[in-house]
Amino acid sequence: MRILVTGANGMVGRAVVEQCLAQGDEVFAHDRHSLDITNHESVKITLEHERPEALINCAAWTDVDGCESNRPLAYAVNSRAVENLAASSRRVGAVLVTISTDYVFDGAREGFYTQRDNPNPTSVYGAAKLEGERCAQAASARTVVVRTGWIFGKSGRNFLSTIIERARRGERLKTISDAYGTPTYADDLALRLRELAELDIPGVYHVVNGGAGVSYEEFTRAALLAAGCEATEIESVSMDTLRRPAPRPRNSRLRCILSAAVGLPDLPYWESALGNFARLSLK
Ligand SMILES: NC(=O)c1ccc[n+]([C@@H]2O[C@H](COP(=O)([O-])OP(=O)(O)OC[C@H]3O[C@@H](n4cnc5c(N)ncnc54)[C@H](OP(=O)(O)O)[C@@H]3O)[C@@H](O)[C@H]2O)c1
Repeated sequence: MRILVTGANGMVGRAVVEQCLAQGDEVFAHDRHSLDITNHESVKITLEHERPEALINCAAWTDVDGCESNRPLAYAVNSRAVENLAASSRRVGAVLVTISTDYVFDGAREGFYTQRDNPNPTSVYGAAKLEGERCAQAASARTVVVRTGWIFGKSGRNFLSTIIERARRGERLKTISDAYGTPTYADDLALRLRELAELDIPGVYHVVNGGAGVSYEEFTRAALLAAGCEATEIESVSMDTLRRPAPRPRNSRLRCILSAAVGLPDLPYWESALGNFARLSLK
């Protein structure tokens, strides 16, 4: 396929470019410098020039606390730009696959969030991402929204790489024992994003690794074990003690009720994905 990737220098963007190249796709990889998604004119010109069959949008302003104090920028990048990507994709006949977040949910639910649950974001980041989903769907019927969460991967700064770095420096770690999510390996997510682009069946998908989900503390302990740092001292804390600017859902475990219906198998269990990540990245 001819695939244009935005946010190609981010954690997921890099994984998507790598996976698409491995599948033999013709890839137009754009980081923020070659294509700022808030520049609507430049998006239009680039799409008209490159004429992709699919656009996979991995660009976003992902600083959840930053979004809380800069609502205009949060909405410009995570809503308006996504709407414009959809409109521009429609003009050139491309399917848009855009990534959203588990933070569209408030976390009050027990168990897993599926597409049957109403979103109710509690942060500016979550609200802007939800508006991005809805505006994109309104602007182009060929929009695939992929909600995901707790991503770990080879590139970029993420929860996992940060704790492992700190453990290796001999630091004592604090970890949250009362917040739950479903971890997602960027490489598995990337492959699924590409599959969804190829399938071209619009809708909202929940894409996370398989398994029952996990608390931050359990995930941290599993990651430290995989990295050979199991002796690290860990202090369990409650999410409420952190007093961060943006509220986060206490439970944001996701499950998809659509994927099997369109013939997509579950992604590997998160424990096995973590093992793959450790083997490839934590030498
Ligand atoms: N990481 C997670 O756990 C998580 C969880 C749920 C959902 N998501 C979603 O997954 C997607 C990918 O996130 P990620 O983890 O790969 O984040 P990331 O590493 O922060 O990547 C996002 C990329 O978007 C770029 N970007 C920001 N503003 C842009 C603009 N105006 N134009 C073009 N590019 C721009 C960033 O560039 P700069 O670095 O130059 O700013 C960065 O390279 C996002 O939609 C995010 O909301 C992530």
